[in-house]
Amino acid sequence: MTVIALASAKSSGVTTSALAMALSSARPSLLAECDPAGGTIRAGYFQAQITAGTGLYHLAVAERAGEDALAQAFASHLVRLDESGNRQVLPGLTDPAQAPALARTWPALAQVMRVLSDEGGYDVIIDAGRLALDSGRLHPTLTPAPLLHGADLVLLVVRATDQSLALARHLTEPLRNELTDRGTGADALGVLLIEDGPRRAHEVSDALRLPVMAALPWEPDTAAYLTDSGRAPRVRRKSALLGAARTALGHFQAAASRRTLHQQYPTAPPALPVQPTPAPAQLPAPAAPQVAGVLQRLGQGRVDPRV
Ligand SMILES: Nc1ncnc2c1ncn2[C@@H]1O[C@H](COP(=O)(O)OP(=O)(O)O)[C@@H](O)[C@H]1O
Ligand SMILES: [Mg+2]
Repeated sequence: MTVIALASAKSSGVTTSALAMALSSARPSLLAECDPAGGTIRAGYFQAQITAGTGLYHLAVAERAGEDALAQAFASHLVRLDESGNRQVLPGLTDPAQAPALARTWPALAQVMRVLSDEGGYDVIIDAGRLALDSGRLHPTLTPAPLLHGADLVLLVVRATDQSLALARHLTEPLRNELTDRGTGADALGVLLIEDGPRRAHEVSDALRLPVMAALPWEPDTAAYLTDSGRAPRVRRKSALLGAARTALGHFQAAASRRTLHQQYPTAPPALPVQPTPAPAQLPAPAAPQVAGVLQRLGQGRVDPRV
């Protein structure tokens, strides 16, 4: 499946969009709230029902005890977003002061997410929060840089306003360089447009020199439900935002698959009508035993995900 990271230059709707995608995905989904500035899902969507005893911070502690402990902790700190357990969330930090403790944990977490995606069949959505730079690079403690490096796609969330574009413009070049040098390539980068403003997708694309991979409508009712847990069922049934989020996730999955194919078959096809011999598909390495245990644990109580 796909690992997607959402980030922004300034608060733009990263958490709302990530939650909308996780809730509306057609396949099992896992939302990891990894904003170093602190998570908002705990106090918002969950109305403070999840205590500080559950969440991302505890994975830093577990990682000190080894890979096995980290993988087990990852599974035990997930919270169900729905009754079936097909949609889960890892709640974020309760205090930005906890972020430095995560700096050495991100690479191992990126690996766990990759395995959950490739072998567990989850669409993994990472809320990477607002990005900070340090000498033209992603800041080592104020951003979860290794998660962006490992993602299939990195979506810069921008609003359709000149203010939002002006701030996002400063991030595009550093992000391209970062993903070229340390990630899966500059073409992992795209835009998720929040339609709150006059700018159209082609204008945003021209201004940022990035493809707009999907757009989400401005829908304050649903957004309030997601960020402040407003009235749920009535809103959810006919939400354009949730419908568009499901479509957006589909676009991202397709774009990620195209990238993977392109990386496996990088050269142009031969000019002569010769049947090319397909290269063997690149299978992911089998999960380490401890991660396999996590997958089993996550699978418990899961209903058939084929919808
Ligand atoms: N598509 C949307 N339609 C309407 N309001 C939105 C939308 N996306 C986000 N918002 C609102 O914008 C504010 C910031 O959203 P949030 O997701 O917390 O941003 P971030 O995670 O980037 O800081 C919240 O009040 C949220 O309800
Ligand atoms: Mg947020």
